[in-house]
Amino acid sequence: MALLGALVCCLLATWHSRRGLALPLAPTGGQSPPPVVGQFWHVTDLHLDPTYHITDDHTKVCASSKGANASNPGPFGDVLCDSPYHLILSAFDFIKKSGQEASFMIWTGDSPPHVPVHELSTDRVINVIANMTTTVQRLFPDLQVFPALGNHDYWPQDQLPIVTSEVYNAVANLWKPWLDEEAISTLRKGGFYSQKVSTNLNLRIISLNTNLYYSPNVVTLNKTDPANQFEWLENTLNISQQKKEKVYIIAHVPVGYLPYSKSTTAMREYYNEKLIDIFRKYSDIIAGQFYGHTHRDSIMVLSDKKGNPINSLFVAPAVTPVKNVLEKLTNNPGIRLFQYDPRDYKLVNMLQYYLNLTDANLKGESNWKLEYNLTQTYDIEDLQPKNLYGLAKQFAILDSKQFIKYYSYFFVSYDTSVTCDETCKAFQICAIMYLDVISYTDCLKHYIKRNP
Ligand SMILES: *[C@@H]1O[C@H](CO)[C@@H](O)[C@H](O)[C@H]1NC(C)=O
Ligand SMILES: *[C@@H]1O[C@H](CO)[C@@H](O)[C@H](O)[C@H]1NC(C)=O
Ligand SMILES: *[C@@H]1O[C@H](CO)[C@@H](O)[C@H](O)[C@H]1NC(C)=O
Ligand SMILES: *[C@@H]1O[C@H](CO)[C@@H](O)[C@H](O)[C@H]1NC(C)=O
Ligand SMILES: *[C@@H]1O[C@H](CO)[C@@H](O)[C@H](O)[C@H]1NC(C)=O
Ligand SMILES: *[C@@H]1O[C@H](CO)[C@@H](O)[C@H](O)[C@H]1NC(C)=O
Ligand SMILES: [Zn+2]
Ligand SMILES: [Zn+2]
Repeated sequence: MALLGALVCCLLATWHSRRGLALPLAPTGGQSPPPVVGQFWHVTDLHLDPTYHITDDHTKVCASSKGANASNPGPFGDVLCDSPYHLILSAFDFIKKSGQEASFMIWTGDSPPHVPVHELSTDRVINVIANMTTTVQRLFPDLQVFPALGNHDYWPQDQLPIVTSEVYNAVANLWKPWLDEEAISTLRKGGFYSQKVSTNLNLRIISLNTNLYYSPNVVTLNKTDPANQFEWLENTLNISQQKKEKVYIIAHVPVGYLPYSKSTTAMREYYNEKLIDIFRKYSDIIAGQFYGHTHRDSIMVLSDKKGNPINSLFVAPAVTPVKNVLEKLTNNPGIRLFQYDPRDYKLVNMLQYYLNLTDANLKGESNWKLEYNLTQTYDIEDLQPKNLYGLAKQFAILDSKQFIKYYSYFFVSYDTSVTCDETCKAFQICAIMYLDVISYTDCLKHYIKRNP
């Protein structure tokens, strides 16, 4: 019976996709056919700097330059400053005018600017998050948004607590139009939640507060399960599995290793291992993982203990272009659109959009455009773990053209002539392919032996 059911379903599915959207489907009796692809937006690291303004004294353009001269300030910002409101609006305007049908948006945190701790306060942090929330709610009154908290969405920054707090309460109230009662209740208590996307989609979003695991958070030092989030996560995944749901994991601080430095996890190593264990155990229902925080564009592929690729992870680049004076490179502002198969929520493609900041400031108009189409640029079929894993293996080949592209996209085409030497490349490749300490360490050892 079940087999027959599955067969009929698949026949219908091929039939649907051959016909596409254009023809109404007779057998469903007047119901409209399911869409061929589902889509959702991912925005992250907005980092609004409300002090940004153009003025002759370049040390006074923005508080986030921390006394340094802004380098070439224009209406859409400067690489030494966090986002002017105008830049953030241009990103959302582009989304609104793109004409893309999206079923929801994910927003993975970090709204306040990078400024010294005494220049902010709990009230200022809440005000910035409220400003961003209201901005999105006014522009997209009918769009469901799933937010996650970032390490900057707190005062003092990084110190997100394991019990309720003024900030958790404030965001629970601000995000009420998007979330259900149970989600609001766990958000208020610990800054995390889970929610079904809608009653007719069998998809659940799990929004983790990975800031509890972030190394600079002293509140959680020596704690084995801060805010009991691990226990809650395992329970939530277990119930989801029993209900045969699919899950997208969203969070700010990513799991795995930082792609630009040696042997450094974004979160404390113990917490990273713990999360990897849980994700491996439930990989059959986790259809995708989405993060922010690094401000760079990168992918990761989680493998099981035997080395089989089982999960695809995506770190989205920031909207803010900010860097510090000592850094040579930064990112252009970026936002992205994911496409999924509405039958099983498998990720089929991702479109990365960006603003050429230099160009926008020069022309005085924002010209957001497609940076790349993931499956097209790398010539892969879809975003399934085995395809991303195959791609990573191609990257690893000496002088790989694919990797040269990947590394330029890593900075959102800020400098398309950037190069990555063999050591740089070893860190990148090992961070893409290995997320736990044993396999990552082994990768670096072999890579460096192979390419001395
Ligand atoms: C957000 O802040 C900007 C200034 O930084 C202001 O112009 C804008 O009106 C505020 N928007 C909302 C919705 O609070
Ligand atoms: C900023 O630029 C001005 C004018 O070029 C210069 O006099 C000043 O020393 C610079 N300040 C800093 C902090 O670099
Ligand atoms: C955490 O544990 C280490 C080693 O056991 C200890 O030295 C340190 O004082 C502890 N820190 C806190 C905040 O409990
Ligand atoms: C889910 O929970 C049930 C009941 O507690 C348990 O028997 C099962 O092993 C759990 N599933 C996984 C994958 O751990
Ligand atoms: C961005 O714009 C600048 C100025 O117009 C141009 O020189 C540069 O090539 C552009 N970058 C990309 C990646 O198109
Ligand atoms: C992206 O590339 C795929 C081919 O891999 C193509 O079918 C699709 O139309 C492209 N989408 C856009 C928006 O360019
Ligand atoms: Zn950030
Ligand atoms: Zn962050």
